[in-house]
Amino acid sequence: TDPAAAWPALHAQIAACTACGLSRTRTHTVPGVGDRQADWMVIGEAPGAEEDARGEPFVGPAGKLLDAMLHAVGRSRRRGVYITNIVKCRPPNNRDPAPQEAQACAGFLQRQIALVEPKLILAVGKVAAHNLLGRDDPVGRLRGQVWQWQGRVPVVVTYHPAYLLRSPLEKRKVWDDLCLAQDVLERSAG
Ligand code: URA
Repeated sequence: TDPAAAWPALHAQIAACTACGLSRTRTHTVPGVGDRQADWMVIGEAPGAEEDARGEPFVGPAGKLLDAMLHAVGRSRRRGVYITNIVKCRPPNNRDPAPQEAQACAGFLQRQIALVEPKLILAVGKVAAHNLLGRDDPVGRLRGQVWQWQGRVPVVVTYHPAYLLRSPLEKRKVWDDLCLAQDVLERSAG
């Protein structure tokens, strides 16, 4: 398929989606943003209030911190990263997305990954890690090693930037995780 045509078709389908109840309370769908040729894909949990208002992921306080984290490894939503979430609509009161909501949205994420073909997925936070890896372990146990998404894309897990805003001492670990993610790319290139 021609990606130039596939992206607008995908975004139109997301905008029209009514597969789960989140479609009834959303303002905007939040499909994703960034470099569609990126070698990194960052996957978060779900849009929050600001994302729902603007239709773009990670534009609130956690997003500012995410941008700073990406900047530290020479990346940005303009170059080197595509950013999306497990679910494309805001859960009311920012509750965790329910398993069936994540399931209803999984086909969209699958298509985004197929179009971007990232060499690495950075899963931020437990909801992303659990849905991508099918494992229930806490982030503290999933980080620090390289997993595989569907046996073909390496996944590094790290803390969610919203958690880092509350626990800034964990930034050191996230820096280590970003370095691990860079190492994966260097190994795959070499
Ligand atoms: N938190 C997320 O997980 N995703 C967003 O887009 C914003 C905040």
